[in-house]
Amino acid sequence: MQNGNKGIPKSTKSWESLRDHAKTFKKDGFRLSSLFEQNEGRFQKFSLQQEDLLLDFSKNYLTDETLNLLVELANECQLPESIEAMFNGEEINSTEQRPALHTALREPEDISKRPEVAETLKRMESIVDQVRSGSWTGFGGEQISDVVNIGIGGSDLGPAMISEALSTFETGNIKIHYLSNLDPAHAESCLRELKPESTLFIIASKSFTTLETRQNTEFAKHWFLTKGGDESLISRHFIASTSNVEAALEMGIVEENIFPLWDWVGGRFSLWSAIGLPIAMGIGMQNFRQLLAGAHAMDQHFRHAPFEENIPVLMALLSIWYTGFFEAKSCALVPYSQKFKLLPNYLQQLYMESLGKSVDLQGNSVSTNTGEVIWGSVGSNGQHSFFQLLHQGTEFIPVDFIALANCDTDAAEQHQHLLANCFSQSIALMEGSDDDSDSHKIIRGNKPSNTLLLRELNPYILGNLIALYEHKVFTQSVIWNINAFDQWGVELGKKLSTSVFNAFEDTKEASTLDDSTLNLIKKVKESQP
Ligand code: F6P
Repeated sequence: MQNGNKGIPKSTKSWESLRDHAKTFKKDGFRLSSLFEQNEGRFQKFSLQQEDLLLDFSKNYLTDETLNLLVELANECQLPESIEAMFNGEEINSTEQRPALHTALREPEDISKRPEVAETLKRMESIVDQVRSGSWTGFGGEQISDVVNIGIGGSDLGPAMISEALSTFETGNIKIHYLSNLDPAHAESCLRELKPESTLFIIASKSFTTLETRQNTEFAKHWFLTKGGDESLISRHFIASTSNVEAALEMGIVEENIFPLWDWVGGRFSLWSAIGLPIAMGIGMQNFRQLLAGAHAMDQHFRHAPFEENIPVLMALLSIWYTGFFEAKSCALVPYSQKFKLLPNYLQQLYMESLGKSVDLQGNSVSTNTGEVIWGSVGSNGQHSFFQLLHQGTEFIPVDFIALANCDTDAAEQHQHLLANCFSQSIALMEGSDDDSDSHKIIRGNKPSNTLLLRELNPYILGNLIALYEHKVFTQSVIWNINAFDQWGVELGKKLSTSVFNAFEDTKEASTLDDSTLNLIKKVKESQP
């Protein structure tokens, strides 16, 4: 920071200027749509094409001056230096003293400085090929028909979202399942139709200490052992991706079935590593490598494009603009594609675990709002649930629309209706309606949105898109001067759950609990047989 107040975005010159500049958009009579009238080539000016991905950011509170000030803010907050620090493997995750090098997972082998990445990809390739070709057999000589990924958070959300999005790329005969929830109903329904002799479990856990994953693994092992399997057969049916090899060994996974993960990969950034095994089991290694290539292309764009033409940086700056100066507390994400039905869930962890912080890198309370709430669901469904609030509610909620120009359907006209709905929602948000014959019908408009248009959905473009959002999150963290790579808040709940669990049986432990929790436990016990 050049402002003498290290790390405080509010103390930068550009923050001050942005505060003044924001008044232009708050004046009575300001119309977002009038920006288009003032500037005929607005789309040309405020849209960016990066390979097969287009960002239209023209429907935002944005003029040349806004853009210049936001870019100035990024420079004053030393974003260029921070980007280099991340790519160069500096310990930017300062509270855990480690780098955040997910970008190294998608670096092509010929430029990679980490031979362990290529080695692991080769090992993944070998098992993926064996399972998909049928040469890896379960007990009784059965080919694997079902792969169950047991993991939670970053060891579940990214892979599950990608498997869903790329389901049409699943070429083999393998069905991929994701088991995450501690609720035993999830394990029961997941395993109900499966046969142990043709099921392969992947235990995905960076730490290998996560309660949900350990419980579900025990559940799966019990199921396997009581349905015909025995201990000597575990090695054909249980493999693991983890950085805690010892714990995996202790749980009975054999060493050659353990795929490594490193502490320089954060859980929510880990789908590019061996945590991506279930994705590769479904779509094959060639497609998985395309996913990595797409992410690498976005890494290059993020690292080298000037900020005025840098898609993740611009999207992040717009979020900073709205949270900092227009009191936006949340951002809606609406992909107009059923294949993206899990994208909001995945992005919720990426954003909210990364940016839900109220202490800055120096350990002081932040002076600005940080992480906005990310929520949403697929369009057009969302139009019939939460869009009413977007259009006429009291909250100011910027929206990210995502649409596919092409999709593999014979129902081209129906797809066109879908696109028309997506685009018309962004118009409705911007323009509103001035039917003032009845105050209930007034829709004020002036609601900003971005539209990301992907040429189609394939592994490469999806890699592009996910890396874009990863870098957007990182950029916001740099400007807010917070650590995007730790998650201490989540740890507290984990610790407490152990003592609450013990309190069900142990009265001494129970005596430490508050009256509310104590009585909830009592009521549970009273209502149980
Ligand atoms: O929810 C907290 C968290 O630590 C996430 O960051 C992580 O993705 C998830 O738990 C799962 O952790 P692990 O992969 O170690 O089981």
